[in-house]
Amino acid sequence: MTSSSVRPRRTTLAVPGSSQKMIDKARGLSVDAVFLDLEDACAPTAKEDGRRTIVKSLNEGGFEGKIRTVRVNDWTTPWTYRDVVEVVGEAGANLDCIMLPKVQEPSHVQALDLLLTQLEKSVGLEVGRIGIEVQIETAKGLLAIDAIAQASPRVETLIFGPADFMASIQMKSLVVGEQPLGYDVGDAYHHILMSILMAARAHDKQAIDGPYLAIKDLAGLEAVAKRSAALGFDGKWVLHPTQVELINEIFSPAQDDFDHAENILDAYAWCTSENGGARGAAMLGDEMIDEASRKMAIVISGKGRAAGMERTSVWQPPEQ
Ligand code: GLV
Ligand code: MG
Repeated sequence: MTSSSVRPRRTTLAVPGSSQKMIDKARGLSVDAVFLDLEDACAPTAKEDGRRTIVKSLNEGGFEGKIRTVRVNDWTTPWTYRDVVEVVGEAGANLDCIMLPKVQEPSHVQALDLLLTQLEKSVGLEVGRIGIEVQIETAKGLLAIDAIAQASPRVETLIFGPADFMASIQMKSLVVGEQPLGYDVGDAYHHILMSILMAARAHDKQAIDGPYLAIKDLAGLEAVAKRSAALGFDGKWVLHPTQVELINEIFSPAQDDFDHAENILDAYAWCTSENGGARGAAMLGDEMIDEASRKMAIVISGKGRAAGMERTSVWQPPEQ
């Protein structure tokens, strides 16, 4: 994996692969990533047509600036290999990632990696360029997440799939992403989100929060998204155009934090230089900064730069 840490994925738009109309609409939305779905948003009888619609749409283009992903069906179904062979074989040059749902063990990722490598060789694509986005949506998948994250260098993201996860653990709720009624001592998803985040950070992958299904409830979406963003997640799925702006904003650094991070980097670079006295720690205004401050600032600054932010204040070294 070479690019996951620099490609922003604040918003990943889910689009049914069988709907030409929704694919056309997706092209014009300000999202960082789009996935065309052959899995749960595509009925069993629509999957074959869906493959053809996806191939045609990817080859027509119009997704400039967006990560282009196709979600195939999981390995327990009869469809996975055909999904991959058809989509990558016919539109591999216009595709960035394959998303694999319901990953339960490393072999699921390894099987996809092998298939992709053979396809890339057979149709003349650069070997290893197509990434893998892994959905963690079962108890078994979460328990194996450390090995799953390391199963292939193609893995770019670890994605929480709340709907399937709630079913997998038999959570007593049908409202996806919301707290189950009766659980009043914290966030019922905290352990799951933290486990995904730990594996992502340990193995340099992006951690992505899944969908919020109550499309009209923007306040609910905001509350849920702010929780995973606060923990350190890189982005969240969006299902509808009305969700896009809010989620882009929540997963971008605030302007003040971005400016502050850039100023920490400049000030720390100066104070550790010969001109600045080669010091390991220094003051930035009233704040003591050191190597740990630099590491935290790099994260905020990197996310802001990736999102195209520009600084509005510039730190100057003191007069000598
Ligand atoms: C997404 O795939 C989910 O199950 O929530
Ligand atoms: Mg799912």
